[in-house]
Order: sequence, then C-alpha cells, then structure tokens
Amino acid sequence: MEKILNLISARVAAAFEQAGFDPAYGRVTVSNRPDLCEYQCNGAMPAAKVYHKAPIQIANDVAARLADDAAFSEVQAAMPGFLNLRLSPAFLSAYLEQTRTAPRFGVAPDPRAGAVVIDYGGPNVAKPLHIGHLRSAIIGESIKRIQRFFGNTVTGDVHLGDWGLQMGLIIAELRERQPDLCYFDESFTGEYPAEAPFTISDLEQIYPAASAKSKSDEDFARKAHDATFELQQGRPGYRALWKHIMAVSVADLKKNYDKLGVSFESWLGESDAQPYIPPMLERMERMGILEQSEGARVIRVQEDTDTKELPPCIIMKSDGATLYATTDLATIWQREQSWQPDKILYVVDKRQSLHFEQVFRAARKAELIKPEAELRHIGFGTMNGKDGKPFKTRAGGVMRLETLIGEITDFVRAKVEENNLVTGDDVAETTAKIAMAALKYGDLMNAPTKDYVFDLDRFAAFEGNTGPYILYTIVRIKSILARYGAWEDLPIAEPETAEAKDLMLALTRLPDALELAYRDCAPNTVCAYIYELAGYANKFYHETRILTEEDRQKQKGYISLIALTKRVLETCIDLLGFEAPEKM
Ligand code: ARG
Repeated sequence: MEKILNLISARVAAAFEQAGFDPAYGRVTVSNRPDLCEYQCNGAMPAAKVYHKAPIQIANDVAARLADDAAFSEVQAAMPGFLNLRLSPAFLSAYLEQTRTAPRFGVAPDPRAGAVVIDYGGPNVAKPLHIGHLRSAIIGESIKRIQRFFGNTVTGDVHLGDWGLQMGLIIAELRERQPDLCYFDESFTGEYPAEAPFTISDLEQIYPAASAKSKSDEDFARKAHDATFELQQGRPGYRALWKHIMAVSVADLKKNYDKLGVSFESWLGESDAQPYIPPMLERMERMGILEQSEGARVIRVQEDTDTKELPPCIIMKSDGATLYATTDLATIWQREQSWQPDKILYVVDKRQSLHFEQVFRAARKAELIKPEAELRHIGFGTMNGKDGKPFKTRAGGVMRLETLIGEITDFVRAKVEENNLVTGDDVAETTAKIAMAALKYGDLMNAPTKDYVFDLDRFAAFEGNTGPYILYTIVRIKSILARYGAWEDLPIAEPETAEAKDLMLALTRLPDALELAYRDCAPNTVCAYIYELAGYANKFYHETRILTEEDRQKQKGYISLIALTKRVLETCIDLLGFEAPEKM
C-alpha cells in the first residue's frame, strides 16, 4: 500500500507541474504547526529562487490548481510561501479503510528482505542469568520481531558463553568438593551417569565460590586453567561433566527466558564454533592475512581512511590459545555455512563496540561471509539504579533476573489487588502481563545506546509514558468492543469530530514509525508512536459518547475507529514483546 504522504505529495507535485514548475518541489510533510494545518509543503520557497518569482505567487498558483482536488478539504497559501493542507474526510476514511482491510495494515515488506541472524541473549552458562543480559534479551527479541514483520527469515541465536574459563572453574571446584566422582577418575571406562551430580542451585553457588577462590588462590587458579585446557582437549570425564553443566544451565535459562517472553530458534554457543577454528586459521594463513605481532598471530584491520587507531584483531596468543574474537570469527563462518545470512545483527553491550569493529573487519578480510552481507553491532547502554550507578541488589550484588522479575511481579500484584482491578483467577494473568509491559516498555522506550535508570514506581505507573498505560488503553477499548458486540466487519467512516480526525491521522502514521524502527533497529520508535496514538485514542474516548450514541451510523464509525486503533496497538506491543490482558 502506498504511504499517505506519497499519495498527497504526488497530487501536490502534479499541481506544481501543471503550474509550470518542477514537480520535485511538491514534497509534503506532516505539519509542524498542527494548529494551522495537517500537512504542509514548503517547495515554493526553493522554487522561487530558481524561477525568479515570489514564493507566495508560486504557492498561490499551486493552491489554485489544488482547490478542486477531492483529497483536500483545505488548501491555503500562507506567507511567505507555505502551502497548508487539510485532508478531506472522505479521502482519509477511504485510506484508513484500506489500512483496516490490508494484511499487516498495508505496511510494505522490505523488498530486500532475506535471511537474518540475530545474536542476542548471550548468557554465560553456569553463571546465573543476570541484569547485564536483560537488555540484550529484551531489545534483541523486539528487533527480531520487527525484522520478521518486514519479511525477513530470522534466526535468533542465543550464542551461549559455554566455552570459557568458567567451565574450568566449576570443574576444579567440583573436584575439590567431590574428588571421588567418576568424572575425575582417568582410568574410568564405564558409562557416565545420566543424572548430573549437581542442581542449578548448586551451580549457582559453586561458580561464585570458585571464581572468588581463583582470585586469592594461585594454585586453584592454575587448576582451573588446566581443567579448561583439558576440557577443550576433550578429556572424556570433563566432557561428560561439561554436558551436565550445559543441560542443567540451559534448562534454567529456558525457564527464565520463557518468563520474559523471549525465545530462540538456535541454541548454539561458543563451543559450537570451536571445530571451525582450525580450518579457519588454515584459510587465514593461506590468504596471507595473519601476521606475527609480539609472538601472537593477528589480522591488521586498520584502514587508510581511519581517523583513529584501530588495534589489530588478535587471533591466537603466543601460547596457542585462541580468544573471544577468534570464536566470534569462527561463528560468523559457521553462520555463513548454516544459514547464508544477508545480515547478522549483534545485540550486545556497547562497551564491546571495538571488539565487533575488529571482528567485522577481520571477517571481511578473511572472506568468512558474502561481501554484500551486513554485519551490525547494536550496542546498548547500562541499566542504572536510582543512584546513577549500574543496577545492583539492595545487598549490593548483581541481581539475578529471576529475582528482578519476582520483585516487579510482587510490586504490580500489590497494585492490582489494592485497586481491585481484577479478582480471583485473573489476578495472576493480569499481574504477569502488566509486569512484563512495565519492565520491557521501561527499557525499550529509550534508544538502545542510552543508559537508563530502572525506576519501578515510574515504569509500573498506569499514567504517563509507560507500558501499563498502553495496556490500559487497549483494555479499555476491548471492554467497549465487548459491550458493543460484533465489530469485526464495520468499515471505517468519515470522522465526525476533531478528536476522531486526529486519531485517524495518527493511525496513518503507522508505516513511517515501523519503517524507522526497522531501518534503525530502534524499538523506541515504536514506543514513541504508540504513546502518541494512545494519547489520541484516550482523547477521543473522553470526548465521545460511544456506547450511548443513539445515531447507529455514527456509532458504527466510532466503533470501527477504536477497533482499528486496538489492532494497531496490539500489533505494536507484540513487536515490542509483550501483550495486553483481558481485564485490568
Ligand atoms: N557472553 C558474552 C558476554 O556475556 C556476550 C556474547 C555476545 N555475542 C557475541 N557474539 N560475542 O559478554
């Protein structure tokens, strides 16, 4: 479906042309003076310079040719040469009727849509999923849904941190605690037990203990390093333990992501990239792009056009160990072989931006991905506490995601019960949905790169720019529709009031908001749009007697308008990754 600005611009451009001017001057924008008009065209000003005429003369000339255009109810030339436009009710309602009946509200899919991999989540196995991974999950899930909406085939890959020192730390610590386990017996030839010798709670306790010990106890630190090395070399008992750690952790991760409404198509991790490393190194050697630098093998990524110095990407240390970057490069190669992506989007803390710049450049040099594919790091900022420092628990530690979700849920449940929003069985559902909306909208309303302050009071408020406010708007419409009856097939009618027209105009802006969100990987654009839309919807609701309207024809128009508003809001919050309850 053509966007409304293009339709209007085409008409104004034709009028410019008929008046003897270049039609390119006919571009129309949304008015920045809504008190004066709905749309404006400023083309007469630059045209005046070229055609040596007064701008107002040109504007008058063009306005005269638009006077009979059925799309406009008002076309005015204003000093010094503006064209102020208002849409005719018939044109606007016909346009929105198309929006109402078209699939996806007529938003055109990306003609260049293809295969997209989104690397998000990025939790480290055996370490509890904490706040630091929260933003990646929330933003990544939304970007994934937006990419999909525009027609891409998207694979969300959780890219587990499952290959680092943390595994060696856990193995070494377990060995000290339970030295008699068969996994440590090198002469053991039987079958390893199917059951893990620990639970997730054990693991959560073992990892921090081991990590702390390795900092004060050199001997232990060396043992952890050795265990990591032996695991990576494939020592059978350690491999078996590693599998247990993976199974127990992944089950816990899935449970937590599930609560967050986040899911992944692919559960690969750093370990899955390891088999690609030796052939990748060979390829790099063959291409002659690996250089020696202080004993290490590196790829130089500096380019002549750089204004800053970019350090080389270290591929292998002098002791033969590979690094985080090596794994990321091998992962790009694996993704190319598995999915041939047209884009890989990384939703990772912005403090890793240098790492990704180096990795992307090295990947191109090594031709690990097709040259036309896009590699993009969507770096996000930190979630801070009210003190402006990275968010911590009251005790000062890093908070676990599960604890955070629990706290938000308790807070929201108290509000739900206090205000008697719902009763009985509905309390749990309504509470969970409001809590998710508060948490996710509170995050997504900020541009990803921005740091933001986690403020539960503000996020969970039912008024203002919050997730619960959006839900409230939807639920209110749902309840009117339920009381009205069958609304699904009512066509969009001409606006009866100024509030109705404002709401309709806001609805026509959906494609622009979504396209911007898509192009910039910026869910905050969707938030800004629905906040605006919800504002117009609530104004309309306050100024209009909907259910008590006696003129049935008028009433049908009201109902079809709020029904479309509801569907648009629901689609948008689905793109953000949350949903509205039935009641609240
Ligand atoms: N596990 C990493 C961390 O916790 C994040 C992984 C991000 N993705 C990637 N391909 N490097 O910092």
